[in-house]
Amino acid sequence: MTIEIPFSELLEQLPKQFFASLVAKVGEKIKAGCDVINLGQGNPDQPTPKHIVEAMQRAAANPKYHKYSPFQGYFFLKEAIAAFYAREYGVNIDPDREVAILFGGKAGLVELPLCLVNPGDVVLVPDPGYPDYWSGIALARARMEMMPLVAENGFLPDYEAIPAAVADRAKLMFLNYPNNPTGATATKEFFAETVAFAAKYGIAVVHDFAYGAIGFDGRKPVSFLEVDGAKDVGVEIYTFSKTYNMAGWRVAFAVGNERIIRALELLQDHLYVSLFGAIQEAAAAALLGPQDCVTELVALYEARRNAFIAALCEIGWEAPAPSGSFFAWLPLPKGISSAQFADMLLERAHVAVAPGIGFGEHGEGYVRVGLLTDEARLREAAERIGRLGLFEKNF
Ligand SMILES: Cc1ncc(COP(=O)(O)O)c(C=O)c1O
Repeated sequence: MTIEIPFSELLEQLPKQFFASLVAKVGEKIKAGCDVINLGQGNPDQPTPKHIVEAMQRAAANPKYHKYSPFQGYFFLKEAIAAFYAREYGVNIDPDREVAILFGGKAGLVELPLCLVNPGDVVLVPDPGYPDYWSGIALARARMEMMPLVAENGFLPDYEAIPAAVADRAKLMFLNYPNNPTGATATKEFFAETVAFAAKYGIAVVHDFAYGAIGFDGRKPVSFLEVDGAKDVGVEIYTFSKTYNMAGWRVAFAVGNERIIRALELLQDHLYVSLFGAIQEAAAAALLGPQDCVTELVALYEARRNAFIAALCEIGWEAPAPSGSFFAWLPLPKGISSAQFADMLLERAHVAVAPGIGFGEHGEGYVRVGLLTDEARLREAAERIGRLGLFEKNF
C-alpha cells in the first residue's frame, strides 16, 4: 500500500513559479505548429566562446579532476577571480578570504538568506525584481519588504521612502544593476548612498551583478565594490552565465565582505563538495583569457536593442532603450493588465513576452522582452505586434 507522503511546511510555503504557466502556454502554441517568437525568457542564445569550451575539453581529460574537488573550490579559480576584479574594476580582493565559488548565481542568491537571517527578520527586495530572491527568503522563513523601482527614480530604490521602523528590522537587502527586468543601471553615487544606508541600519547588502558585463552606449556598469566601504557591508554575486554565455555550466562566485563569504562557505560545506574541477579550470580561463568575446557580445546585444526599439517606435510603441542587461522593459497602454497583454500577444501575434506582474506588484503596467534572438526576428516580432493596431490613438 502506498503511504501518504506530505511535503514539509517549508516546501509548501515556497512561492509559486509565476512564469511556469507562461512557459506551458508557449509550449502548447509551439506544439500546435505556431511559429512563436519567444522573447519571454532570459536564456542567452549564443554559445560559450570556443577557447573556454576547449579549456574545458582539455581539463575534463585530467584525472586530477575526476576525484572530489577540494571543499570550497580550487584556489586557482579564487586567484583568477581576484585578478579579474583588479583588472576590470580596480578592486582588491583577497582570494583566500573574500571569494566564495557558487553553483551558479541562483544557488548563492538562495543560500544567502539561509546564511544571514532568522525567521521573521526583514529582507529588503527590489520590486520589480528577480523572483529567485523570494525563494531564499521563503526558505529562511524571513519577511520581504518591497522597495519599489519606478521610472521616475531611474528604477533605483528610494531609501528615504523606507520607514525607519522597517529599516531597523531589516537584516539583508538585495540589489541588482544592470537590472532584471528594467534594464536600468546604477551609479557610484547610488551605491555610496546604499553603503551609508546599510551602515546606518546594520543591513547586509547583496548586489547581484549578473549583467555586470552588459552596459550600452560605451558605459561600463559599476561594481558595488568600487565604492568605499562596500566590503564593510556586503558582497557582489557575479555569474559566468551572461558574460561568457555559460548558463548551462552553473558557475558563479561571491566576492566582498569576509564574514558573508565565510557564512556562504560554511553552508556550502554542508550542501556540496565543490564544482567539477574542469569547470573551475574553464571558468578561470574565461576570466583570464581574451575578452574580445565579451566586447563582441555587448555589441551584439546593443545592435539588437537599437533595432528592436526602433522597430517599436515605427509601430507607435514608445519605449525607452535599456542602458544595460539584455532586457527591454516596455510600458503598456492604459487599461490592460500585463498578464492580459502578454496573453494577447501570444494568442494573436505569436510573440511571447514576460508580464511585469510576475516580477512584483510594481512590475504591473510593463512587459519584459529578452533581446535573445537575432535582429530580423526582433523586427518581425515588432511588425507582428504592429499589425494588431494596439498603439493607435484609441486603444
Ligand atoms: C538578475 C539575475 N540574477 C541572477 C541570475 C542567475 O544566474 P545563474 O544562476 O545562471 O548564475 C539571473 C539569471 O537569469 C538573473 O537574471
